Amino acid sequence: MTDSIKDYELLKAEIRKHDHNYYVLDNPEISDAEYDSLFLKLIHLEKKYPKWISPESPSQRVGITPATAFNTHQHAKNMLSLSNCFSDEEFFDFDQRVKKSLNSAAQAKYFCEPKIDGAAVSLTYLSGTLEIGATRGDGETGENITSNVRTINSIPLKLIGSKDIPEILEVRGEIFMPKDEFARLNKLQEKDGNKLFSNPRNAASGSLRQLDPKITKTRPLHFFAHGIGIIQGISFSSQEEIFKKFKSWGLPVNPLNAIANNLHDCIKYFEKIDKNRASLNYEIDGVVYKVNNLSDQNEIGEIARSPRWAIARKFPAEVAKTKIIDINFQLGRTGVITPVAKLEKVFVGGVNVSNCTLHNVDELERLDPRPGDTVVIKRAGDVIPQIIKVIAKDKNRAPKIKLPKLCECGSEATLNHAESWEVREDKELIKKFDSIYEANNFIKNANKGYSLLKVNERAAFLKCMGGRSCNGRIRGSFYHFVSRKAFDIEGLGKEIINRFLELGYFKDVQDIFSLENYAKKIEKLEGFGLKSTENLIHSINSSRNIELHRLIFGLGIEEVGETTARNLSNFFKSIDNLMSTSFEELITLQDIGPRVASNIMQFFEDNYCKNMVKELLPHLTIKNPNLIDQDNYLFEKTIVITGTLKKLKRDELKNLLLSKGAKVSSSVSAKTNYLIVGSNAGSKLAKANQLGVKIINEDEISEFLNEK
Ligand code: IVH
Repeated sequence: MTDSIKDYELLKAEIRKHDHNYYVLDNPEISDAEYDSLFLKLIHLEKKYPKWISPESPSQRVGITPATAFNTHQHAKNMLSLSNCFSDEEFFDFDQRVKKSLNSAAQAKYFCEPKIDGAAVSLTYLSGTLEIGATRGDGETGENITSNVRTINSIPLKLIGSKDIPEILEVRGEIFMPKDEFARLNKLQEKDGNKLFSNPRNAASGSLRQLDPKITKTRPLHFFAHGIGIIQGISFSSQEEIFKKFKSWGLPVNPLNAIANNLHDCIKYFEKIDKNRASLNYEIDGVVYKVNNLSDQNEIGEIARSPRWAIARKFPAEVAKTKIIDINFQLGRTGVITPVAKLEKVFVGGVNVSNCTLHNVDELERLDPRPGDTVVIKRAGDVIPQIIKVIAKDKNRAPKIKLPKLCECGSEATLNHAESWEVREDKELIKKFDSIYEANNFIKNANKGYSLLKVNERAAFLKCMGGRSCNGRIRGSFYHFVSRKAFDIEGLGKEIINRFLELGYFKDVQDIFSLENYAKKIEKLEGFGLKSTENLIHSINSSRNIELHRLIFGLGIEEVGETTARNLSNFFKSIDNLMSTSFEELITLQDIGPRVASNIMQFFEDNYCKNMVKELLPHLTIKNPNLIDQDNYLFEKTIVITGTLKKLKRDELKNLLLSKGAKVSSSVSAKTNYLIVGSNAGSKLAKANQLGVKIINEDEISEFLNEK
């Protein structure tokens, strides 16, 4: 009998069907031995006819070469997060807001889903074939983890069915590790002397961020789809319909998802899931309610970085008992000195907690905690742990904690007061705020006529009076500068920063970009070596190309958080514009009150900060929003770089392309516009040729970049 490509395609489809039965439906139709024999047949055919092999073959889940770093992936549509509520009343308030937005008294139907405690991912299918898998990252930019996602058996490499497969389908969902598999993995980690994962979520995201997909393949990861990103060639009218289609295409969806026709159903759903929570083999931290009708969702829209048509109802915080070992004072980047309790390690809310902030001096007064005391701590989901009360005082009680008079830099530490505000309605407390501006904004944006605004207690906090050159503050600025939402410099953790500061390798944050001068010395430090030094320099260099909002956030201006930084970036569009603004202009912006405005003004007027920014800017290529020339022919073009480049560093080339608005991708697909090739190019070049992608070789790069 002769082998035909048609039989090969049929064989692949059959294996795909059995994979779906086994991994998604948990309902195998054939024995393992029968499955193995089908798979062997496939391998045999592919050995004989290697030209037939395509990436979506069931044999191609693991690629050959481990990556050295992940490429970034720009989400075509932002990946949003959910706002939370913790009670029936808060959920009813949400429902009222929905009704108000829709201008209708009719009850919206809600699609209800368990909220999976895993890692959010985006999967892009082009004409039914999985082309890109990416992490959520900061919601705008994630990491391309396609090779790792491909190893997860419940994620189809090719969608089932042929009739209604859209040209583009971006599936969003959660990758998670089942509880029993997590326990098994940790046992294995322990046996092999490896670090244990503190919870299934960390295990899942750690496994997804392995550079070698062969390791990810050994990790028991699963997936549930929960939404869509960009789509083309199909339209949906409801959340329910999306899930039905997902199911028909072989994408795993949670069987506990359900439609609620009224608020009573919604509350019943929450209670049912809460009751069954312990019996589920995966961690959940609440339920998600989504307005079912998609045109309603559109009308309701989004606010900040969350949709207003969906909300997460979280389970109550977990509590645990533990002992205080010690109480110390920690200096932050704003000069505030915070009391922190060192605790006997305790597992609560899914993580091990061994440190817990006491927030401010008032909290220290209220609780009067001392070393040796037994306390109750509380932790909900991603919220920081809190001490709620002291339940047993130590027999030989230590003296009351004294406030330090001096900061570690030797300057005076003085007591300051922050005002807090409460928004009330009919004497009922609605919400507390730390600033009057925030409270006013809340009242302005709220649906009900909250009116009474009352000054509450004045929390006292300690502050170093040494100004910005206090070494503890500088250390804090470094931690903030390299953090994920700012410059995101991997490999520059707290301990390493402390070490380099002590060794004098850097003094102020801008010196990070000259760290290469110390590469030879770093290489010789204990715990380093050539490879990790190279990796560190590489991640520093990659961070030079930075979005404006990350730069603004990274500067560490007091009270300028991620959202404010984004608003400033969108309004001013360049750092120069922001630096030459005025107080009057700033307070016209939404969400910026006089206090934040004056913090921004003070920052850019302060000599230390002015110098820091002046020395920092020459090291960076700032990606300003909407300032990229959209007529530039590289704008929004998808480009892949492959092979070894001789004249230009790959990162430099990537940054040049990004600055022209191109998207740099790691894999060649039908969407690729250009492939830039160095020497020793391999499979990407072959694929590009196959797809008719335009090839640019190294000698043509400068002409290519400068073409009009
Ligand atoms: S919907 C726009 N549904 O929770 C709606 N999210 O803060 C955004 N999550 O990172 C997502 N289970 O990945 C949705 N059933 C579910 C979910 C879910 C878990 C995660 C999601 C996101 C976070 C929201």
